Amino acid sequence: MSQPFDRRSFLRTVGLGSAGALSLPAWINARGLEGGTAAEVTAIAAAARRNGPIKLDSNENPNGPVPAVIREVQRQFGVASLYPARSEQPVRDAIAKANGVSGAQVMLGCGSGEVLRLAVQAFCSPSRHLVTALPSFESPAQYARVLGLPVKEIPLDAQLRIDLEAMAREARGAGLVFLCNPNNPTGHVYGEREVRGFIDTVLRADPEVVILVDEAYHEFVDDRAYASAVPLIATQPRVFVSRTFSKIYGIAGMRLGYALGAPATLTRMERLRLPNGISGHAQVAGIAALSEPAQLAKEQRANREARAFTTKWFTDAGYAVVPSQANFVLVHLKRDSAAFRDACASKGVLVGRVFPPLTQHTRVSIGTMAEMQQAVQVFKQVLG
Ligand SMILES: Cc1ncc(COP(=O)(O)O)c(C=O)c1O
Repeated sequence: MSQPFDRRSFLRTVGLGSAGALSLPAWINARGLEGGTAAEVTAIAAAARRNGPIKLDSNENPNGPVPAVIREVQRQFGVASLYPARSEQPVRDAIAKANGVSGAQVMLGCGSGEVLRLAVQAFCSPSRHLVTALPSFESPAQYARVLGLPVKEIPLDAQLRIDLEAMAREARGAGLVFLCNPNNPTGHVYGEREVRGFIDTVLRADPEVVILVDEAYHEFVDDRAYASAVPLIATQPRVFVSRTFSKIYGIAGMRLGYALGAPATLTRMERLRLPNGISGHAQVAGIAALSEPAQLAKEQRANREARAFTTKWFTDAGYAVVPSQANFVLVHLKRDSAAFRDACASKGVLVGRVFPPLTQHTRVSIGTMAEMQQAVQVFKQVLG
C-alpha cells in the first residue's frame, strides 16, 4: 500500500504539528557524516525517510548502515567497470572470520532470499517435498510452487510456535526442511536444545533430508537458551544456515546474504548461482558492515528498547503480542488485519503484509523510538 505521502501532513493528522516533526535521522549527525559526498548520499536517505511514510513493513534497519559502508561503496565506483568475481573471496573471508568458519563454508547470495531459492531448487524434487511452517517466511514455499514441487506447510501450535513435532513427522521423505529461527512473522525463537533435538529426530528418521535453518534475525536474539545452528555444519553436512545483511546490518538495498554449510552441500547450490550475481558494491558493503562490530550492540539495544515500548503499548491497549526476539512484533488485533494495514497506510504508517491463516494479526517492524512513538498514535486512532 505505498502511496505518495508527506510526513508533515501525517504529523498534522496525528496532532503532533511541528513540535514532533522528525529532523534528519539521528544517525546522520551521530555518525559524523558531514560534508562531501557522504553527506550528499545520506541527505538523500534522510529526505526519503523524512518525506515518506513511517516504514514498519519490511523489518529493515531504521538507522541506516554504518559510515564505513557508505565510504566503501562510494570508493567502489572507481572500479565499477570491472566484473566483481575476483573480489568475492575477501567478503567470503570476512564472513567466515565473523562466524568462526572457513571461506569454503561460505556461499554468497543476492540477499539470503537467493539462498532460500537455491535450496529449494537444489534439494527438492517432484518426489522430495519441502516442509515449512505456516505461517513462516513464505519464499521457499512460493518457489517450490512455481517449480511445481510438493510442499507440506505445518500450522503453528496454539502458542504460535513452530510445531517441531509435526514438522519432524512430515519430514520423512522430504528434500528440504525449512526452519526459520527466530520465525518470521512471530519473532518466536527456539533454544539450542530444541533445535538440536529437532535436527536429530529428522535425520534419524530420514538421513537424506537437508535442513535449512534461516537465521535472518539471529543478531537480535537475547534469549540465553538460543544458540546459532552454525556449529553443527562442521559435523553435519545435511544442515546449513542462511543469514543476511538486510536486517541488523542495514543494507537491504545492497542485496547481500549468505549460506554457511559444508562445502559439498554448498556446491549443490553454488552451481545454480548466477555468475557475477553479487555486485562489487554489495561485496565491499558487506566487508565494511562487518568492520564495526561495536555498532551491533547499539543496534541491538535500540531495537530492544523500541520493541519493549511497542509491546507494552499494544499490551496495555488490550492486544496480545507474541514475545519477540527479532526486530518486529506480531500483534493479535482481534479484527481484520488487512483493513488495519490499509487504514494505517492512509495515515502514513506502513505495517507488514497479512500472513494467512493469521488474518487477525498484524506484524509491526520496529523503527526508531521516535517513529514508534508516532506510529502508536496512528494505531490508537485506527483501533479506535
Ligand atoms: C526470515 C527471512 N529470511 C530471509 C529473508 C530474505 O531477506 P534478504 O533476501 O533481504 O536477505 C527475509 C526477509 O525479510 C526473512 O524475513
